[in-house]
Amino acid sequence: MCKYIIDGGKRLNGEIEIEGSKNAILPILAAAIINRDVSVIHNCPALRDVLLMIEIMRELGCKVDFDGETAVIDSSCMNSYEISRKNALEMRSSIIFLGPVLSRMGKITISHPGGCELGPRPVDLHLKALRMLGAEIYDICNGLIYAKADNLKGCEIQLDYPSVGATENIMIAAVLSEGETVIRNAAKEPEIVDLQNFLNAMGAEIKGAGSGIIYINGNGRDKNSLHDVEYTVIPDRIVAGTYMAAAAITGGDVVLKNVITDHIAPVISALKESGTQFFTYDDSIRVKGPEKLAAIEIIRTLPYPGFPTDMQAQLVSVMSVADGTGIMIETVFESRYKHVDELVKMGANIKVDGRIAVIRGVKALKGADVTARDLRGGAALIVAGLKAEGCTIVNDSKHIERGYVNIEKKLASVGANIVKMQ
Ligand code: EPZ
Repeated sequence: MCKYIIDGGKRLNGEIEIEGSKNAILPILAAAIINRDVSVIHNCPALRDVLLMIEIMRELGCKVDFDGETAVIDSSCMNSYEISRKNALEMRSSIIFLGPVLSRMGKITISHPGGCELGPRPVDLHLKALRMLGAEIYDICNGLIYAKADNLKGCEIQLDYPSVGATENIMIAAVLSEGETVIRNAAKEPEIVDLQNFLNAMGAEIKGAGSGIIYINGNGRDKNSLHDVEYTVIPDRIVAGTYMAAAAITGGDVVLKNVITDHIAPVISALKESGTQFFTYDDSIRVKGPEKLAAIEIIRTLPYPGFPTDMQAQLVSVMSVADGTGIMIETVFESRYKHVDELVKMGANIKVDGRIAVIRGVKALKGADVTARDLRGGAALIVAGLKAEGCTIVNDSKHIERGYVNIEKKLASVGANIVKMQ
């Protein structure tokens, strides 16, 4: 098991290039199985989750080549509808294959992805919507899901919650359904818009992504209506936000390249409250941290365009050394404060009650031996370690490698004293 070792206190200074978006590429890879043709996808980040998705696609019979930047998928040779329990349980996002495989093969067996570090991760909204499209879905023994659908038929779907994954599953399944599907209360994240653009590039007819109401004109399983596609994925807004937090907490001066600032506006707004300055140029943004961070009064995580839950942990780290008290309210996930116990080991003064965390800024954090419990919580510990006095060891790097390409190399390139080792 690898760990990160950080000698804190260095102000970051320099340039970091932001990689392609994990949460855009995962549904796009799953969607690439429905065109029975070749999909060439650029700006594909070399992440553990991406490699797992590719393993599942190969398990389904697709031919996939990946050079670390561009993925080439030939789904014409797909010959299976069974996703192994091992792969399904390895990554929560495997559920995103439900719609695509059902649409392509007419059936699928997949393990319920189960909960993860963020608390129970039900898929009831996915299953309810796919049943409305005409799928028969059976919960078999020990969490195995079997679904079949001879003909998916478009319909009006009102999501009880703007679930990102459920929106994506419905969009993909509806492309080859008969007639129009309308998704109301759909997720509005930029990754949903990217998925719409990718599907339209292969011949689908979708509009409204990002607006909350999405219209998909099904091609009625006309297999030839979709064709090969070449596409470039958007940059990762959460990776960009994480490096913004790193620049802010260290009082650094960092230019982030390949950033769509609209996608991360709520994080920029919150960091401005802490005294961090931003200067935007084309697709770059310069982030200048203050000598002393002012308190951020309150942050409430919400579905896009609200403050992203995936930046909650990193901002808790920033707030833990601000000059005053801040409140974090996590409204999206039930249990997403596992990083707090680890931050307290570093001297942070944080009290958690359910979905609320009260963060009283301290003068300094002290380096400590801490452990990543989930992807963004692990990133938050690295952010805190960059500021802490002395040496911080962040154990269990595997969580962090799921969502950040070479985070230690990128931080070292702007002056951080950080290495990854066994
Ligand atoms: C996506 O997860 C992201 N993952 C998450 O990023 C992100 O935190 C989340 O959206 C919210 O923005 C990917 O895109 C791969 P949801 P997803 O369905 O689709 C409940 C990261 O760190 N819910 O919008 O699983 C659910 O329990 C990851 O990159 C149901 O109740 O999120 C949660 O409380 C973490 N029933 C809330 O909705 C369902 O059927 C939001 O979940 C589905 C979801």
